[in-house]
Order: sequence, then C-alpha cells, then structure tokens
Amino acid sequence: MAPEQRMPFLFLLVAAGLILVQGAGAFEINLFRIYNVTIRIKPASPVLKTCPIRTGGKSYYSEQKINPGERPDFTFECSTPERHWVLVVEKNIDCMSGQCPFGDVLLQPFGLPSLNRTFVWDVKVDQLSGIELKFSPSIKQIPPGDTCSDQVLYNIGSRLDRNRVNIGNFCRNGSVSRVKVQGGVILTLQIPWNSKVNTSGFKLENRSSIQRLCIIESMFQNESSTTLMSANYPLGFPEDELMTWQFVIPPNLRASVFIKDYIKPNCARKFVKLELYSGREKGFALDKGQSVNVPGSFELSLQGCDQIDENPGVLSVLFDVTAHYPKNEENVTFILDLRKEKNMNLTIYSKPTRPESFLKHEQGCLICIDSSKDCKPNVTLESAYKYSVIFMCRNLENIRIIAEKSIVCWNARTCHKDFSLVVPQSLTQLPILVEKFIWKLRAPKGLNLEIRSPILKLKQHIPQKNQLCRGSYSYVINGTTPGRIMNFGHFCPGGAIEKIVTADNVTITLKTYGNEWFTESQKQDLHLSFVPCITEDCIFSLTPDPKAKVYLETPDWLGGFPAHKSVYWNISVPRKRVGQLNFLSEWMGVTCEENRAHIYIREHNPGAKEMVCRDDEKLPRTLEMHDHFWVNITNCKPAAGKLLSMHFMVTLVEKNSALPIIIGAVVAVIAVLAVIGLIIFCKKKKKNEKKEGPTPMVGVYNTNVNTQLPVRKGLFKKDRKNNESHIYAVIDEAMVYGHLLDTSTIPETAEVGVYQPFSGPMSIHPPSPPPLRKASKEPNMEESSFMLMTDNENYTFTHRSSREPQSNGNVNVSGNVGSKPLLEDNGQENSAL
Ligand SMILES: *[C@@H]1O[C@H](CO)[C@@H](O)[C@H](O)[C@H]1NC(C)=O
Ligand SMILES: *[C@@H]1O[C@H](CO)[C@@H](O)[C@H](O)[C@H]1NC(C)=O
Ligand SMILES: *[C@@H]1O[C@H](CO)[C@@H](O)[C@H](O)[C@H]1NC(C)=O
Ligand SMILES: *[C@@H]1O[C@H](CO)[C@@H](O)[C@H](O)[C@H]1NC(C)=O
Ligand SMILES: *[C@@H]1O[C@H](CO)[C@@H](O)[C@H](O)[C@H]1NC(C)=O
Ligand SMILES: *[C@@H]1O[C@H](CO)[C@@H](O)[C@H](O)[C@H]1NC(C)=O
Ligand SMILES: *[C@@H]1O[C@H](CO)[C@@H](O)[C@H](O)[C@H]1NC(C)=O
Ligand SMILES: *[C@@H]1O[C@H](CO)[C@@H](O)[C@H](O)[C@H]1NC(C)=O
Ligand SMILES: *[C@@H]1O[C@H](CO)[C@@H](O)[C@H](O)[C@H]1NC(C)=O
Ligand SMILES: *[C@@H]1O[C@H](CO)[C@@H](O)[C@H](O)[C@H]1NC(C)=O
Ligand SMILES: *[C@@H]1O[C@H](CO)[C@@H](O)[C@H](O)[C@H]1NC(C)=O
Ligand SMILES: *[C@@H]1O[C@H](CO)[C@@H](O)[C@H](O)[C@H]1NC(C)=O
Repeated sequence: MAPEQRMPFLFLLVAAGLILVQGAGAFEINLFRIYNVTIRIKPASPVLKTCPIRTGGKSYYSEQKINPGERPDFTFECSTPERHWVLVVEKNIDCMSGQCPFGDVLLQPFGLPSLNRTFVWDVKVDQLSGIELKFSPSIKQIPPGDTCSDQVLYNIGSRLDRNRVNIGNFCRNGSVSRVKVQGGVILTLQIPWNSKVNTSGFKLENRSSIQRLCIIESMFQNESSTTLMSANYPLGFPEDELMTWQFVIPPNLRASVFIKDYIKPNCARKFVKLELYSGREKGFALDKGQSVNVPGSFELSLQGCDQIDENPGVLSVLFDVTAHYPKNEENVTFILDLRKEKNMNLTIYSKPTRPESFLKHEQGCLICIDSSKDCKPNVTLESAYKYSVIFMCRNLENIRIIAEKSIVCWNARTCHKDFSLVVPQSLTQLPILVEKFIWKLRAPKGLNLEIRSPILKLKQHIPQKNQLCRGSYSYVINGTTPGRIMNFGHFCPGGAIEKIVTADNVTITLKTYGNEWFTESQKQDLHLSFVPCITEDCIFSLTPDPKAKVYLETPDWLGGFPAHKSVYWNISVPRKRVGQLNFLSEWMGVTCEENRAHIYIREHNPGAKEMVCRDDEKLPRTLEMHDHFWVNITNCKPAAGKLLSMHFMVTLVEKNSALPIIIGAVVAVIAVLAVIGLIIFCKKKKKNEKKEGPTPMVGVYNTNVNTQLPVRKGLFKKDRKNNESHIYAVIDEAMVYGHLLDTSTIPETAEVGVYQPFSGPMSIHPPSPPPLRKASKEPNMEESSFMLMTDNENYTFTHRSSREPQSNGNVNVSGNVGSKPLLEDNGQENSAL
C-alpha cells in the first residue's frame, strides 16, 4: 500500500481533533505527508472586501496557497466564510511511468473547512495509453451550463496536443459507469460547502491503449434514459478523432437511440461517421433525427475528419438512449407442455438480428416465460413442467430450440427394453426450428447401447465418396469415453445401417437443416435398447438395398480410428444375391507403433474361410460374398499422423451377373500375376482353425508391387491388347494355391512361405480357369469361396478416368500404382511355385 493511501485515516483523526480544540472559524490544513497535493483558498469574487482570512498573525483578502508538506493554521474573520471563499484542491497522479495508484481515489485531505470545494485530479498518462475511471454510483452527462440537483458536478477533460478537450459534465446517479480517456485525464469534482459527499465516487481501474480519444460506457440497470454528447459539445469535436460510447443493456430490456442533434463539419479528407455496432463488425450509419431500436448491448462511434482549414465547420452530436421493457410489440404465446418428458433441458434462443434490420423495427425476439416482464433473448426450460412461452417479435424465423435429453440406465435389470429417440411432439408441433436435439445415452457396466433404425435405416455421410446426407436432418454420433473419444460420424435416414451396438456411452445429436424439418420431423425412426455386453467396441449391422451402393468408413474418419479399438460390420446378403465388397484404398493407411491392425472378413456360414489382412498388407480390391458376412477391423496403436482411415463399398449384385466378371477377372489376374509377380495381399484361413484375435500373421509377402514391367511388357501386351479385363487383378487363392490350401492336410506352420508372389514363367496362353462355375454351384464351394478381384467396373465408379484404355502394354493394375521399386530377385522367390 502506498504511504498516501494509509495516511487519510491517520489524518482524519488528527484533523478532527484539531477542529474540536480550535472551535468554529479556526482550522488547520495539514498537507504533511500528503504528496503532490496543492490547496488554494481563493476568494469567491475578484475583489473581496469582507471576511478576511488570518494566518501567521496577518489578515488577507487574497488567495492562500498551501504546498505539499505544509501545515498552516487559518482563521476566517467572519461567520459565513462559505459565501466569500472557495477551496481548490489539486492533485497530480503520475501514471506515466511505474505503477499507477489503481483503486479508489480519495477525497483528501479530510477535515477541510466547509467551503465550496473543487477537487482537481490531473492523471498523467503517456499519449499511447488510456486510463480508465470507474464511477460508482454511476454518473449522468448534462449539457454544459446545466447544474445537478445536488450541485455535485464532475467535469472530465483531457489534453490533446496541449489543447484541453472537454469530454463532458456529469452529475451523480446516472448510467455512465466508466470513462476511458487516452493520454491522461483531468477530472474536477465540485462539491458545495454543505454537501455530505465525502468520497470521490471513482476509482482508477486500468491503463491500456484505447486507440481513440475516449470511451464512455453506460450500464443500464432498469428502465431509464440518458443523454450523451460528443466531446467539446456544443463546440467542435476535435479533428480526425474517434470517440465511442458503449451501452450495456440487460437482456430483458430494449434500447432505443435517438439522434437529437448532429452537426457535420466541412471535411477536407476522410468522412465523418456516426455508426452503431451491435455484435457485428459492420457498423450501421446514423443520421440526425434518426431513431433506432436495438435488442441488446451495443456501441456507437463518432469518427471525425480532416476539416478544411479556412472553413472547418463544427462536428457535434447529442443523442438520447432509452432502455425500456418491450411494449406494444407483436407477441405470440405458446403452451409448451413438458410434463411427460423426463431428464430433458431446452434452450429457446433468439438469433441476433443484423444491424440493417434495426431500422425496420425488426428486433431480435425476446422470449418471456409466463409473464411479459420476465423476458430474455434466450431461456432454458426443464422437463416435467408446463410453460406459457410468449415470443415478443414479428416472426419466429430466428428463434431456435436446442434440447438435450439424458437416458441413463443405472441398473442392468431395471432398464426398459426400448426407448424412442425422437424429438418429442411437444417440440415438433411448435413453429420453431429445433436446431439440435441431443441425446446423452449412458449404459451401466454390463450393458451396451443398441441404436436401431429398422425402417428408415441409416446412411453414413461420406462426402469423399459423394454419399451425402441431403435430408432435413442428420445424426452425429460421438463416443464419450474421456481420453479415447470415438466420433462415429454423421448419419442420416435412407441407408443400409439397421443397428449400431456400441460399448461406449454415446451422445447422439440430431441436427436440422432448414424448414423441411417441419414435415420430415414426422418421419423419425431411431430407437435405443440396452443390450448385454459385447466385447467389441462397436458393431454396425447392415442390410443394403439390392440396387444401392453402400459406402462405409471407419469411425473418426478425420481424426483417425482410435488406437486399439475395434469396429465390426455385419452385412446381410439376401439369397440370390452376391455381395461385392470393394476396398476403396490400397492399404489401411495406418502405420503401427504398437501391435498390428487387422481386417478380418468372413462369411457367416460355419465352414467359411476367414480372410485376414494386416496393416502392412495390400488390401484386396473386390471380394465376392455369397452369404451374410463380417468385416472386422481392429486397430493397433498408430504412429502419429499415420492413422487408420478406411473406406469400403458394398453392392449387391444378381448372382448370375457376378459370374462373368469373376471368370474374366480370374483369367486376367492370373495373367497379371504371372507376369509381374504381383502377389497376394491377404491370407485366407479356415474358420476355427485358429482362435480369432490379433495373432500376428506369419508369411512372406511381396508387397513391392511395381505396375510397370518394361522387361515383360511385350509379352503381356501381345496377349492382352484386346482384353478389356486387363485392369482386373483377380486372385483366387483356391485356384492359384489350391494344392496348398487344403489346410486340413498341412500343418498350420506350412502357411509360412506359402503365399509367395506368383511371378512364374508366363506362357502366351493364360492358364485355363479352374472350373469355377461348376464349383460355385456346389454349395460348399460357393459358401466358402470369396472372389478376390480387382473389378474395373466398380473401381471406375470412383475413378472414371481409369475407364479409358490403359497405356498399351504398361500394365496399370487398376490404378493402384505402387511406387515401390520392383524386387530385383523376383524370379528366385518364385521357385516355390
Ligand atoms: C508526485 O509527483 C511527482 C511528479 O509528478 C512524481 O514523481 C511522484 O511520484 C509523485 N508522488 C506521489 C506520492 O504520487
Ligand atoms: C457555492 O456553490 C453553490 C452551488 O454550486 C453556489 O450557488 C454558490 O454561489 C457557491 N458559493 C461561492 C462562494 O462560490
Ligand atoms: C444518488 O444515489 C444515492 C444512493 O444510491 C442516493 O442516496 C442519492 O439520493 C441519489 N442522488 C440523486 C441526486 O439522485
Ligand atoms: C463518508 O460519510 C459516511 C456517512 O455520511 C460514512 O459512513 C463514511 O465512512 C464516510 N467515508 C469516508 C471515506 O470518510
Ligand atoms: C484493462 O484493459 C485491457 C484492454 O481493454 C483489458 O484487456 C484488460 O482486461 C483490462 N484489465 C482490467 C483489470 O480490467
Ligand atoms: C425498475 O423500475 C421499475 C419502475 O420503473 C421499478 O418498479 C423497479 O423496482 C425497478 N427495478 C430495480 C431493480 O430497480
Ligand atoms: C401482446 O399483443 C397484444 C395484442 O397483440 C397487445 O395488446 C399486448 O400489449 C402485447 N403485449 C406486450 C407485452 O407487448
Ligand atoms: C439440465 O440443466 C441442468 C442445469 O443446467 C443440469 O444440471 C442438468 O443436468 C440438465 N439436464 C439434462 C437432462 O441435460
Ligand atoms: C443463453 O444465454 C446465456 C446467458 O445469457 C448465454 O451464456 C448462452 O450462451 C445463451 N445461449 C445461446 C444458445 O445463445
Ligand atoms: C457409461 O456411463 C455410465 C454412467 O455414467 C458409467 O457408469 C459407465 O461406466 C459408462 N461406460 C463407459 C464405457 O464409459
Ligand atoms: C462429434 O463428431 C463429429 C464428427 O463425427 C465431430 O465433428 C464433432 O466435433 C464431435 N463432437 C464432439 C463434442 O466431440
Ligand atoms: C467378427 O466379429 C463378430 C462379432 O464378434 C464375430 O462373430 C465374427 O466371427 C468376427 N468375424 C471375423 C471374420 O473375425
């Protein structure tokens, strides 16, 4: 604490004591240890003839000055000195350098004689800083020359290039709560001799650049009105300066601005601007006589110009601001009955309107609950009550509802079977757009969440594949487990996903897009059940439509599928159909730091073989699935920036139409493989042969695929120049490695080294395809074989350009151009075959 701040109390005691002792008329003014304060006792009129002041044994009719540190005694030689003498107390406050004495400014010294007093505080701040004065109680501006009812008057001024600028005169008890002035402030406070005022009423709060002449902040507490003026009013506002008024309006009140007086100067350069800002960066220009309603807090700025030297004219503004309850506004009342709802919260809010709309009296709406006095731009309601909601505005277009509902199961035995995740009718029947409806779903230990959309079925929003949600609403599903949050993505009705079972607690956010929601809200189809635990993190169950292409992607497409998580798709394939599973990228995209990532693919039937792809293995392009099947992905711990993100596509084709492709593909692939030594990708093993799990696959894979084989291209070209299927890379292990695949006859370890790249000698005639057609007619064979192929047709769906004839002879294996160099010793590796 600065010494001067500790002084007053001490001084009060001393001074009061002295007054008592010395009696009326005699007093001592003690400036001992009061720093930088000068007091002048001045005669009220220039020629004072009565009531001299006596000090040091002499009587005076002239000004007496008391300097810091002095402690003179005085006696007035009359009974009414207040009629003849006044006091001026001047204090310099140095905020130029070092610490500014922030905090209450004291009316020191105490114990001054009862004369009219003028306190002058000269707060010196460097030209680049603003000093902030906070007034409590707040003050009220009056035009120059006017007086205050209690005769207590503030004047605020500042220095601008050695000129004094009069920011304004103020009385106590108004709405102006803060005044910020750049480059120092001179504040005078006049207190009449008989006033009880014993505090300055302001404090120094802050020192920072405000980049303008001054800022006047008004804070309205209640219905009230205030008049404000430009600096130097009614004289000219300083040239090329900026002044700002800020208004804080409580949410239940409206404000009106009325520009009573606005005189513009003659500008040589720049323009004069008087602009209103209300939450937007673009100002709204005001002019004389204009009246504007503002829904909330706002700002008004006056910018001067460079005036013409010979005939500068004058810039001055005077305006009124009134804060009032909304009155005679159009209003609509709705009954909102939430008595049937549970654990639901609801915020109704009015979007801020644009400043351009002030003029049209298009104010932001106020929302009032049960009475037109309790109005706010936004209100929060809770379920289990019935409300009467009054909207104070012309149209409800800018009103939105955001609701949140918790469905928590605490006890596995008591949770109901089925919950409907639909926006309740009490909300959909209002003519107000539900912007978001959030369900927070929590399952206890031992139970999982099952989200179903049996009728509409869900589609995953995948912009990259142009599978877009275009309806009037969508769902965003987010996991909630802290630390490893899994964002499932955006979904909307009209897809193939019937069911999502998740081990994580999730938040589902229904987001609406536009007014179509009002009709589409009738068609909601989302249900929740609590089901016994799964060990997987998440299972999607799908039934694709026969004709549709269904794109799917791993959760957290953008952020990367979380470490060590697993996601499973259970995809139904109807009888008479074949499911084509296309991976839309070559690799899983992940680089593992710990463990490995795997994809497991298997048809449902008991004898089906499982295909396993490890993160570093090439993915198959297309697989033909003849039964319902699983696609299971388990993640490793990915290295930073090398995350797992996968797209794949499922289409259902007629059984018959699938076959020609396969055959053609087989031919082609064998040819391709034979030529280039491109090899197998993933492994296939018989079901139950191994326990499912992240057992690392052993094998030697040649992943160094180079699609350009200058050495052998002639050979290849010759055979394939007219063959449209040359882009297919069809691999059927049963065919290529058929003799080795009978795993019942070979030990498991035999897998090692079995899946070698095939790049054996190439004959002009492609190998005869195995009797696939026949085989596939045998139930066993059909069930357990899925075709591995690179399907040109499917692929070109996403890469049209690859439909064009491939460069002659340079074998582009369906566009997946591996950039790794060709293994030099391919031939040797083939020896196993
Ligand atoms: C008094 O004013 C002088 C010069 O303005 C300044 O250096 C000094 O710090 C001030 N003292 C106090 C106690 O404010
Ligand atoms: C003291 O102040 C009052 C009110 O402002 C004024 O009427 C009176 O004339 C002043 N007295 C002197 C001596 O200035
Ligand atoms: C100003 O407000 C104070 C308390 O808030 C009150 O005592 C005083 O009478 C008011 N003065 C005027 C002039 O309204
Ligand atoms: C000002 O006067 C009021 C009573 O009139 C008193 O309660 C208060 O303590 C005084 N304040 C100071 C700083 O002397
Ligand atoms: C001082 O003013 C600056 C700029 O306006 C502001 O960022 C800061 O928060 C203020 N500090 C205090 C204590 O009010
Ligand atoms: C606001 O003003 C109204 C009348 O104008 C008054 O009834 C009400 O008590 C005031 N509220 C506050 C908080 O001062
Ligand atoms: C609500 O509207 C009615 C008629 O439309 C009007 O009489 C009433 O004053 C309005 N209420 C408010 C608080 O503006
Ligand atoms: C409703 O809001 C209250 C207070 O903001 C909060 O404590 C409660 O959890 C919310 N309820 C729901 C269902 O979100
Ligand atoms: C509603 O008002 C509260 C406080 O006035 C604010 O914190 C919140 O952000 C507002 N909500 C919306 C949606 O505008
Ligand atoms: C889901 O939320 C419930 C209730 O908050 C909690 O008991 C449970 O542990 C959470 N489950 C998970 C997987 O975080
Ligand atoms: C929810 O997931 C979406 C993407 O699926 C993401 O954009 C959003 O930030 C997530 N929200 C939260 C609260 O994590
Ligand atoms: C995929 O996961 C499901 C559910 O856990 C399991 O029944 C199935 O056997 C798994 N399939 C594969 C190929 O791993």
